[in-house]
Amino acid sequence: MISVAVSGAAGRMGQAVCETVDGAEDTELVAKADPTLGVALADVLGKADVVVDFTRPDTALANAQACLEAGVHVVVGTTGFDLEELRRAAEASRANCFVAPNFAIGAVLLMEVAQKIAPHMPECEIVELHHDRKLDAPSGTAKRTAELISNAGGNVHQPIHSVRLPGLVAHQEVIFGGEGQTLALRHDSIDRYSFMPGVLLAVRKVGALPDRFTVGLEKLLFGSQTG
Ligand SMILES: NC(=O)c1ccc[n+]([C@@H]2O[C@H](COP(=O)([O-])OP(=O)(O)OC[C@H]3O[C@@H](n4cnc5c(N)ncnc54)[C@H](O)[C@@H]3O)[C@@H](O)[C@H]2O)c1
Repeated sequence: MISVAVSGAAGRMGQAVCETVDGAEDTELVAKADPTLGVALADVLGKADVVVDFTRPDTALANAQACLEAGVHVVVGTTGFDLEELRRAAEASRANCFVAPNFAIGAVLLMEVAQKIAPHMPECEIVELHHDRKLDAPSGTAKRTAELISNAGGNVHQPIHSVRLPGLVAHQEVIFGGEGQTLALRHDSIDRYSFMPGVLLAVRKVGALPDRFTVGLEKLLFGSQTG
């Protein structure tokens, strides 16, 4: 049984994670940390093997650092902050940190396919579309997609286009253009439960990862070396 504390437990993602962890056979929800619930992350770290953080860009780094300093593995889903400081904290700690800008398998597959296309049709644009309460733009997924496409030989035109509207959840399109043709890839998360199998996989695997700091669900799904 893996003991899991959820940081940001009262949020849109946090609530779905709590329900998922509670419902899985091999994970146990031991704490819900969130200022709106009156529970501080620091007060629950002693109970958890793994913390899952879906909070805000301005607090995720400090939360993850607190976990690492306490020797607790941390799975970070929060986007919109610089990962380099987190990498350094993880590498200096005795716990593991796993970060994914997108826990949905479809989004990860889009990134994989985009890297295959990039050497053959390098010119491309990224359009990401999210609900209007999302704090960061462009999305962490779009920035990661751009990085992977560039590393694979593509030319991602700037800026990345960010659409924020009520009714949306999380969506992304990559459009490649070549001589007399275009090729579009699109992924839609129409429900937050799209992220939950990926979050559970990370909770199960984070403690046994070979490196202290790992980014990208693709590393857990197919051991991809990209990026
Ligand atoms: N990686 C992914 O697949 C993925 C998918 C969806 C959303 N996200 C990201 O997850 C984050 C959360 O999104 P959301 O829609 O659930 O946001 P939200 O605003 O609904 O929830 C955030 C929660 O964090 C809480 N919080 C704030 N400060 C805190 C702290 N110091 N400690 C603990 N909790 C704290 C807030 O009270 C709130 O309940 C965002 O950064 C979003 O971009 C990532």
